[in-house]
Amino acid sequence: GALIILAVLTAYLFGSISSAVLICRLFRLPDPRAAGSGNPGATNVYRLGGKIPAALTLFFDVLKGMIPVWGSYFLGIEPFYLGIIAVAACLGHIFPLYFHFRGGKAVATALGAMFPVAWEMALLLIATWVLVFRIGKVSSLAAIITVSLAPFYAYWIKPQYTVPVIMISLLILWRHQSNIMRLRSGDEHRIKRK
Ligand code: G3P
Repeated sequence: GALIILAVLTAYLFGSISSAVLICRLFRLPDPRAAGSGNPGATNVYRLGGKIPAALTLFFDVLKGMIPVWGSYFLGIEPFYLGIIAVAACLGHIFPLYFHFRGGKAVATALGAMFPVAWEMALLLIATWVLVFRIGKVSSLAAIITVSLAPFYAYWIKPQYTVPVIMISLLILWRHQSNIMRLRSGDEHRIKRK
């Protein structure tokens, strides 16, 4: 009981570290919450600063989802709670404790959280994202389609994680509301640098 609560809190605190904001400060780039799309994520850091800061943001956002789930897995926590721990990391990214609760969309963090327990699924999701991105060249569209397929992938490959995957997919879709509106009106931001 106590171990699980501690793991959930740790995951939330890890998730709360906004890689995008910190990397942008390090590279003396504009605050990603105030520039570009206004989203503190790798896509927007790419818009603001190009490949290297974006890759670092992606790496650390993946890592902060991965570490708490991996740790919890090694501590012998059961699959259901590992799913909850993954959700907690994503909630940390979306509502970060240290950044006035104004966070991102949790795409990278969700992917990282999945790796330790369902790497086959993580690879399939990456392949899906890359395929859609190659066709559409829009990061948000790739994320929206990928997370919409994720529950089906889970049901097929890792049925024990279907419920937490649905929860995370719904969170990510909800965070993409403004992207969905822009996609529908045809003025979604491209990934290209301004
Ligand atoms: O992962 C976030 C991405 O799907 C959209 O980012 O900056 O275009 O809103 P952005």
